Amino acid sequence: MLVNTKEILLKAKEEQYAVAAFNVFNLETVQAAIRVAEQQQHPVIIALGERYFGTVDVEGFASLVRELAMKASIPVALHLDHAYEKESIVRAIRAGFTSVMYDGSKYEIEENTRRTKEIVEIAHMAGVSVEAEIGSVALGAFSDEEEGAGTLTDPIEAKKFVEETGVDFLAAAIGTVHGMYKGEPNIRLDLLDEIRNLVDIPLVLHGASGTPDEILREAVVRGICKVNVNTEVSLAATRHLAESFAQEERKNAHLSTIMADMQQAMESVMTKFVRLFMNK
Ligand code: 13P
Repeated sequence: MLVNTKEILLKAKEEQYAVAAFNVFNLETVQAAIRVAEQQQHPVIIALGERYFGTVDVEGFASLVRELAMKASIPVALHLDHAYEKESIVRAIRAGFTSVMYDGSKYEIEENTRRTKEIVEIAHMAGVSVEAEIGSVALGAFSDEEEGAGTLTDPIEAKKFVEETGVDFLAAAIGTVHGMYKGEPNIRLDLLDEIRNLVDIPLVLHGASGTPDEILREAVVRGICKVNVNTEVSLAATRHLAESFAQEERKNAHLSTIMADMQQAMESVMTKFVRLFMNK
């Protein structure tokens, strides 16, 4: 069933687990995410980034996800990831997304607060929940996200921001990066504790790819309720493709076979993440 993201995350917070928000951009990525979630009997968030609006038919995509969600045996939410433009947010709301992320992290805190508050007013009128970001996530390797400054979240600023904007969940920057790490990860779980102590809404961790399993597990134990996953899933698919095409007999394989195999490669990586986030 398609449910509001906030509903999924409040339950996750209460029961101390996290839900994967898988970045998707075609049928195979959506099918893989829902299939894995059903196999594990765990909710899932289907996340489409604003940066794919140029290549994906947003309304067509939303009705596809709605259809697949309706048939699913677990709660499914449809989320707009990293949106920088109000127009994209309004478009996603009209198309039936259940939550949107407004990313004003490049602005000074006052401007980010002002802009986020306006988005919250619009989204809440439509019953859509809102994620925002304080601090910013830096860019690692093989990601297709925008460059971020990598500024860590200030817990006091985060508390004030949440109170003033009325956002439903907050992305906290604690040292993870979008994509694979270029050096040793330095994830500040102590900072997560400080933020958790001051902020009572569900917390979101961006940049799961390449983050050591034990750190992800610990982040969930310490209060992360939603974890965004993109690059590692994409790499599983592209590496599978590269290996396939290196085999002589696969060079002229039918595209349908290639796509099905690619989906399977993504499913095994997604399974690893969902199991970590279940906190069992
Ligand atoms: P990764 O690409 O590091 O998994 O991060 C995804 C993400 O945070 C999308 O918002």
